[in-house]
Amino acid sequence: MIKLDLSHIKENIPFESYQEKVSQINEMIVNRTGLGNDFLGWVEHPKNYDKEEFKRIIAAAKEIRDNYDVLVVAGIGGSYLGARSAIEALRGLYSQDKMEIIFLGNTLSPTYINQVLAYLENKNFAINVISKSGTTTETSVAFRLLKELLIRKVGKEKASKAIYATTDKAKGALKKEADAEGYQTFVIPDDIGGRYSVITAVGLLPIACAGLDITSLMKGCYDAMNDFSSPKIEENLAYQYAICRDYFYNHNKQVEMFVTYEPQYTQLGEWLKQLFGESEGKDKKGLLPDSVTFTTDLHSLGQFIQEGSPVLFETIIKVDSPLLDVTIPEDKENLDGLNFLSGNTLSYVNEQAFKGTLKAHFDGGVNNIVISCSKLDEYNLGYLFYFFMKTCSMSAYLLKINPFNQPGVEIYKKNMFHLLGKPGY
Ligand code: PA5
Repeated sequence: MIKLDLSHIKENIPFESYQEKVSQINEMIVNRTGLGNDFLGWVEHPKNYDKEEFKRIIAAAKEIRDNYDVLVVAGIGGSYLGARSAIEALRGLYSQDKMEIIFLGNTLSPTYINQVLAYLENKNFAINVISKSGTTTETSVAFRLLKELLIRKVGKEKASKAIYATTDKAKGALKKEADAEGYQTFVIPDDIGGRYSVITAVGLLPIACAGLDITSLMKGCYDAMNDFSSPKIEENLAYQYAICRDYFYNHNKQVEMFVTYEPQYTQLGEWLKQLFGESEGKDKKGLLPDSVTFTTDLHSLGQFIQEGSPVLFETIIKVDSPLLDVTIPEDKENLDGLNFLSGNTLSYVNEQAFKGTLKAHFDGGVNNIVISCSKLDEYNLGYLFYFFMKTCSMSAYLLKINPFNQPGVEIYKKNMFHLLGKPGY
């Protein structure tokens, strides 16, 4: 499924010295006794998920694919990043699939929202509004605008049929509205927080609407749940990776740079930044997660990584076979001097870029962790999602941090609401 290559780390990581701590934290995760233990539902979710709802998700996705050309997903943070990263990673950025997926509710940008609404004027679209709290401003504003457009285009009754709400099972403004208007609803379990929710209806409905196999994705999660359940460090790749992160953090590294080699994985970097940043960045602690897409960013941040302040290590998510490939043609004139590459595939060229960069950065003193899989399909992505979530919980607990809250996010909201004159602020 995945390989963890630690051979491009200069130091000897003292794994054995972590065993006692890791065993204790593993117990805390299993018995739900650690900080934020109300939010450990994701740990066994691949086994315990609601099978009836899963069937409804598949049926709703079919209904959406059969009846609409575009699905607009309205959500922000954990209520959108997982779905977006999966859809882009698995379909590529210019997919030929019949269903177009657009993301809104993830910004307050007037220009972006204006342009998306204008684009949707002549489209036959459905909406999946996703919000656990049901009150997030970005999502609520986008949803109000989308609803207004949809009702104007097709009338209230058809609009209500085209709206699918993923939210809390009982509370929040969105749940109230969904019940009143008769939208089909899907549940975000109480014990799963936003950034761990890609394996719930939050991620699964949009992913299924994109024509992707969510049964396989959940099977990948299930196998990862079993593979990363052992407290023994030598048997658990997620815990080995968490220990490396902790070791680097305690040895003067401030930044973990996630690296991918195709633009369709850029959003996976965004998902990882949210997962680790929001889980660990508290109490003045935590690695700053950043991400780059190579080779594109070798022509921007590559210089800093190679020779800049020695604040970072890299974690490369390496996919051996691409979704699609291209062969470089022969050109008799050879004016561009590229005939030395004729007949080679771009995946071969990209692979040499990966190998050359890994050596350059390692020789330059940068530690590199390589997490690889043979190809990125639904199964392997589900497996990877779970791997990173398990790593993240272990990492945060090693720092004595609650991995499941985000108190800092509330502060900007309070200020903004005060400035906007929201009642009670
Ligand atoms: O990880 C989290 O909990 C957050 O990123 C939330 O997902 C995000 O703030 C959106 O919240 P909600 O789903 O309540 O609209």
